[in-house]
Amino acid sequence: MKKALITGITGQDGSYLAELLLNKGYKVYGLKRRTALPNVENINHLKNEIEFIPGDLTDLSSLIEAINIAKPDEIYNLAAQSFVADSWSQPILTGEITALGVTNLLEAVKRVKPESRFYQASSSEMFGKVVETPQKESTPFYPRSPYAVAKVYGHWITINYRESYNLYTCSGILFNHESPRRGIEFVTRKISDGVARIKLGLQRELRLGNLKANRDWGFAGDYVKAMWLMLQQDTPEEFVIATGKTHTVEEFVEIAFRHVGLNWQDFVIQDPAFMRPAEVDLLLGDSSKAKRVLGWEPNVTFEHLIKMMVESDLEKYKCKKSK
Ligand code: NAP
Ligand code: GDD
Repeated sequence: MKKALITGITGQDGSYLAELLLNKGYKVYGLKRRTALPNVENINHLKNEIEFIPGDLTDLSSLIEAINIAKPDEIYNLAAQSFVADSWSQPILTGEITALGVTNLLEAVKRVKPESRFYQASSSEMFGKVVETPQKESTPFYPRSPYAVAKVYGHWITINYRESYNLYTCSGILFNHESPRRGIEFVTRKISDGVARIKLGLQRELRLGNLKANRDWGFAGDYVKAMWLMLQQDTPEEFVIATGKTHTVEEFVEIAFRHVGLNWQDFVIQDPAFMRPAEVDLLLGDSSKAKRVLGWEPNVTFEHLIKMMVESDLEKYKCKKSK
């Protein structure tokens, strides 16, 4: 039986990846940091199938112990301070987790189980103020936030440990991917949640920042398949994972409100509090390498994704109301 260790198990991607690996017959270990209150909503349905190991990306000793316990064939490093907006108010913490945390984990791999295969969750945010469109593996990076700068470090240290120590390490440069399990502070989930609450009379307005930003949005369930495929190749490489279509935040808002029969302009207020000091205006990925080498393609369309998220939030609030 193959064994996998997932960091970031409580997050959106961690939960979908755990489902995928369990379905493939893996023994799944999840690195979980201590929280004052339980935050296992995304993985509650899997809690008896995953073996949790306490640990934190900023604590090397806990990572060494985790790899000693799991002795994993595959390690998926999904843990990060992943919210771009907060990386300006917590730049040092973001660097410690999202950048140096990767080195901590690679060091633990090198010392304890150098034959493990390692996946790093790199990000399209690294392209930032894009120098070409669409963005592909060879596109130079121009990060625009402390988060993106930290991800560039994580990306290159992953390559460096491969070249320095001959480890099997690779990075997926994933464009935005969403789902009903997306954290509530990210714009897509903030919108789907807001639309559901407004439709059910629980909220009157939705305050958002920049509606003109363009993102290449896919479904998280499709994207975790690409992570697994990357670790099944003979040679470790970098891959861009994207839908190849870009949409504005405004389009997302318009479709989400339309889905429940409402006009977004009656409810959305632009609030400077949600504007960023430096914005990423346009992301559009070219994942033709992933299609050619991995045979990977996304299945869920933009419209389907929005419908799925709005329906899920409507259901959640209807259940709460009826209790
Ligand atoms: P997410 O929902 O924010 O999950 C992040 C995970 O990291 C959570 O499980 C969190 O645990 C954990 N974590 C945070 N700090 C940690 C620490 N110091 N030690 C150990 N664990 C820690 O993120 P996601 O959307 O699933 O994304 C997964 C990864 O892909 C992230 O690295 C993200 O930056 C990257 N990425 C995401 C996207 C996207 O569109 N979703 C695109 C490209 C790249 P708690 O629950 O305890 O906070
Ligand atoms: N969060 C948020 N809240 N974003 C808003 C809002 C708002 O009220 N209003 C407008 N936006 C805009 C942001 O300015 C940004 O241009 C866009 O919506 C998307 O913001 P997020 O959903 O927060 O995601 P992100 O693109 O900054 O980062 C996500 O994708 C990256 C991959 O490109 C995160 O998942 C990162 O971890 C990931 O690396």
